Amino acid sequence: MHKLLERQLKKLGMLPPAPELEEFLATVDAAYTQADRDREMVERSLELASQELLQRNRQLRADIERRKQLEVELGQAEKLRAVGQLASGIAHELNTPIQYVGDNVRFLEQAFQKLAHRAYKSSGRTLEPRTRKELDFICANVPGAIESALEGCKRVAEIVGAMKHFAHPDSREYVPADINRALTCTLAVAQNVVKYAADVELDLGELPDVECRLGDVNQVFLNLIINAAHAVTERYGVDGPRGRIKLSSRLAGDRVVVEVSDDGCGISDENQARIFEPFFTTKGVGQGTGQGLAISRSIVVNNHKGTLAFKSTHGQGTTFIVELPVKHPPSADSRLPDPRMSGAGWPAIVG
Ligand SMILES: Nc1ncnc2c1ncn2[C@@H]1O[C@H](COP(=O)(O)OP(=O)(O)OP(=O)(O)O)[C@@H](O)[C@H]1O
Ligand SMILES: [Mg+2]
Repeated sequence: MHKLLERQLKKLGMLPPAPELEEFLATVDAAYTQADRDREMVERSLELASQELLQRNRQLRADIERRKQLEVELGQAEKLRAVGQLASGIAHELNTPIQYVGDNVRFLEQAFQKLAHRAYKSSGRTLEPRTRKELDFICANVPGAIESALEGCKRVAEIVGAMKHFAHPDSREYVPADINRALTCTLAVAQNVVKYAADVELDLGELPDVECRLGDVNQVFLNLIINAAHAVTERYGVDGPRGRIKLSSRLAGDRVVVEVSDDGCGISDENQARIFEPFFTTKGVGQGTGQGLAISRSIVVNNHKGTLAFKSTHGQGTTFIVELPVKHPPSADSRLPDPRMSGAGWPAIVG
């Protein structure tokens, strides 16, 4: 008999029940039991509904969070593109003047040689000793000055060339590009950060052109090189010994493999799982925003269908390995939005 019915009958002093009530009580008992079952079912449904709601709420919050991150990321990407365009414009503007400065210095070099030659020849013996001393001094030093001016022009022209290549107008198409040149130009652009931190070794193999978005690929190399320079400074300090950075490239089957190695501070085990997370950084304010690797991964993996992996030993150094298919896979990719806007999940890949 249902507990509740039993209690009620007990209260009324009707236990044991009279035989004529048995049939009636059996019906009431069945109704009580059914009511119990119904209540349990309603409770279970409510529980399920509330779990579902909680789940959806969590999902919604995660979506909002991801959206916020992507908005910031997109903002950064836009800023980078704007800076890139500006740099490209400046490089273009610098190109012509630096060329004529170089040409004019070369003209001055030849003119000076002729003039000095004539001066000696025509008045060599009749010169006063003081004038002769001055002429000797000028003739001894001007060629060196001209040579270093020409060397300076050459360096500026190289940097301008690298900047033009680096800030190459960002095509959304996958166009065959020289990855070794991309590496050397990016290194030239990063020179002011790298040169105080480390000696750079290049080991560039022979490569076919790779179908890629060059501006994006340059962005990946720049971040890896700057990260390497920062890691080296972190290990050895600003005034300490110089570290080593090595850039290498090779062809492996139908993929080009680029490695950026450093003998810097390395990445601790707990951080290794997090470095590809957007906004994860161990750097101080103004040094890093924690977006470089997240964006790089998105460019390499989502966009170019390549891989981005790393090996690191805490305290000893890190190697990042970028693999890019030589031919951009003919998938639906060109119809996809900009990868920096997609970004399903950011799992770290540890190679
Ligand atoms: N070569 C490296 N050696 C040691 N740690 C590294 C190296 N590369 C990346 N890291 C670690 O991974 C973190 C994330 O790198 P990421 O490039 O995404 O951001 P960031 O360099 O901190 O900032 P940003 O690139 O946005 O300026 C770094 O803060 C650093 O802790
Ligand atoms: Mg970085």
